[in-house]
Amino acid sequence: MLRMKVFYTIATFREWREGLRGSVGFAPTMGNLHDGHMACLEYARLSANHSVVSIFVNPTQFAPTDDFTKYPRTLDDDLRLLKKEGCSAVFVPSVEEMYPAGASTKVIAGSMANGLEGDFRPGHFDGVATVCLKLFQIVEPSMVAFGSKDLQQMRVIEQMIDDFNMPIHLDAIPTCREASGLALSSRNRYLTPDAKVQASQLYRGLQDTLQLVLDGTPPDEAEVTTTKLLEEHGWTVDYLAVRDGATLGQVTPASIAIAVLGAAKLNGVRLIDNITRIRG
Ligand code: PAF
Repeated sequence: MLRMKVFYTIATFREWREGLRGSVGFAPTMGNLHDGHMACLEYARLSANHSVVSIFVNPTQFAPTDDFTKYPRTLDDDLRLLKKEGCSAVFVPSVEEMYPAGASTKVIAGSMANGLEGDFRPGHFDGVATVCLKLFQIVEPSMVAFGSKDLQQMRVIEQMIDDFNMPIHLDAIPTCREASGLALSSRNRYLTPDAKVQASQLYRGLQDTLQLVLDGTPPDEAEVTTTKLLEEHGWTVDYLAVRDGATLGQVTPASIAIAVLGAAKLNGVRLIDNITRIRG
């Protein structure tokens, strides 16, 4: 097996990248890697000649009140895992490397950023789009792997790729779940053991909502029914929304896929999840 390379600066990464023959598949991450990230790496590995993972906790996508400093940083474990899974190279820049003093140009995320997370995390998707554009410029991938758990993020990046005519294909990687149905997330580590058992209620709520809609309940009624149920179980629901899976707008007779997206807090831990079903 080839040795995995680890780069901490843009200049050294570029030097390596310029010497590469063949395509690069890329999975951007903020570290604290779990099976969901490994599935992204696997796709990148299988879709291209070389696989690159970035580990960068991006400050511009966190609000001042968010958990940027508390975000779990587990670099040694992450590197061990990536090496074991056969990653070609890891890019681990510092904040100063990505945002040197004076850097001020930003991407304003497109219409996919409106509503849902966009309402609860103003500016978040601008930060995500900005860092992804920078990473894509540095890594020069032909393929990028994004986890479907963050469906709206994935749509924002797809839209940016399209709007900016980038020669990049985005692959949507299915959400990895625990046996209970709980979607894997770095934030799950903040759940107490009891809350973790309860946390799969969000996934079941999404499933129930979808079933209600498929059985003919109007989407807004289904949303209210599930929201009430979750709240009765102690959740604070930010949104629970039935949407067109491609546009994230309202479902119309032309919608090919229906997505149910939810964000809710359990004991102060905010979880997001979604499910998508192709219409029969
Ligand atoms: O999903 C994430 O981990 C981050 O938002 C991303 C895409 C790596 C950008 O910082």
